[in-house]
Amino acid sequence: MQRSGGRGSRSRKREAEKEKTKIRDGEVKMAKERTFLMIKPEAVENGHVGEIIARFERCGFRLVALRMEKLSREKAEKQYEEHRGKDFFESLVSYICSAPVVLFVVEGENAISAARKMVGATDPKKAAKGTIRADFGIDIQRNAIHAADSPEKAEREIKIHFGELV
Ligand code: CMP
Repeated sequence: MQRSGGRGSRSRKREAEKEKTKIRDGEVKMAKERTFLMIKPEAVENGHVGEIIARFERCGFRLVALRMEKLSREKAEKQYEEHRGKDFFESLVSYICSAPVVLFVVEGENAISAARKMVGATDPKKAAKGTIRADFGIDIQRNAIHAADSPEKAEREIKIHFGELV
């Protein structure tokens, strides 16, 4: 006599589990993203590069590109195009070009939003405890690090600094 929920039902359950795993695996793959980050001049100057990159590695992100560069005005303006016209634009561009920055790309699950969380609010005074800006930022402009804020921006900024890496 076959009990209800017997073999047929168990194998259907197993099939359903396999399907769910496939979907889960699919979702994990789809959620794997790349994002762009830039350690700003004062954080480079103050010796925070190693610790900042280590935080991303400790959180499980894989470093896929890295370069130290003194940005040209042209690149800095391109990077910050969306802020053109704002009162801090000129000051921001000259600050970013004033000394070398460290540009890098990390890859991992939900990298874009996860990196934004690790980076913290724009103003270091308002950034949550333990975030990179709270720990290393000086003021709203010299806020230690930039992180792309959307998939479109991540793609755009990776292209500006690392060509067709995306
Ligand atoms: P970031 O995340 O790189 O994006 C734009 C940058 O502009 C921001 O970090 C700050 O460095 C700078 N910024 C934003 N708001 C202000 C502000 N009110 N005054 C000066 N700089 C700002």
